Amino acid sequence: MNAKEYYRTGKRSKWKNTGMRRYLIKEIIRSDIDADTVFEFGCGRGETLVILKSLGYHVRGIEINPMEVQYTTKYHLGVDVGDEEYLLNYPDNSVDITFTVGVLDHIREDFDFTIRQFKRITKKTIFCLETNDVPSEYYYPHNYESFGFVKVRDFMATGTGDGCMYTLWRLDC
Ligand SMILES: C[S@@+](CC[C@H](N)C(=O)[O-])C[C@H]1O[C@@H](n2cnc3c(N)ncnc32)[C@H](O)[C@@H]1O
Repeated sequence: MNAKEYYRTGKRSKWKNTGMRRYLIKEIIRSDIDADTVFEFGCGRGETLVILKSLGYHVRGIEINPMEVQYTTKYHLGVDVGDEEYLLNYPDNSVDITFTVGVLDHIREDFDFTIRQFKRITKKTIFCLETNDVPSEYYYPHNYESFGFVKVRDFMATGTGDGCMYTLWRLDC
């Protein structure tokens, strides 16, 4: 089984109220990005999107695991079932901010394609909150700087169950 098959089978994320989200949310709010639409790739149960929606952002998401998408329906977050190929359905410059939280570390050979699609669909800024640690199977490190990302900060994650160091990356389009 590869990583995609693993996540498609409906395995639920073990993350429980991770405080990591606040670093990303504070960065979006504090920044000078005049954003209306924010898009999360691999949004899981939509925990970050729920907060951003409550702050007034128009939110959208893609998630490979249909069970997680089903869970988000009660929050009306505009989440579709799909993987990186589904990004092709998004028009150029159709979202202001694209972000990920703990997803790109599970993508291997399609990483370049995924980042290229993020750059195509995003008008303003891309944030990736990801780890380059490899605590177990289906974790793949990537060179974010080579794609133009700038490090915002590193921190030890809590509530993720993986004990990894995570980095918040930012790329202004
Ligand atoms: C660690 S969880 C994080 C979920 C969410 N971002 C959050 O902050 O709670 C990783 C998520 O990425 C999703 N995922 C993994 N590979 C994916 C892919 N190729 N396309 C879309 N989603 C994917 C998994 O199904 C899972 O929900």
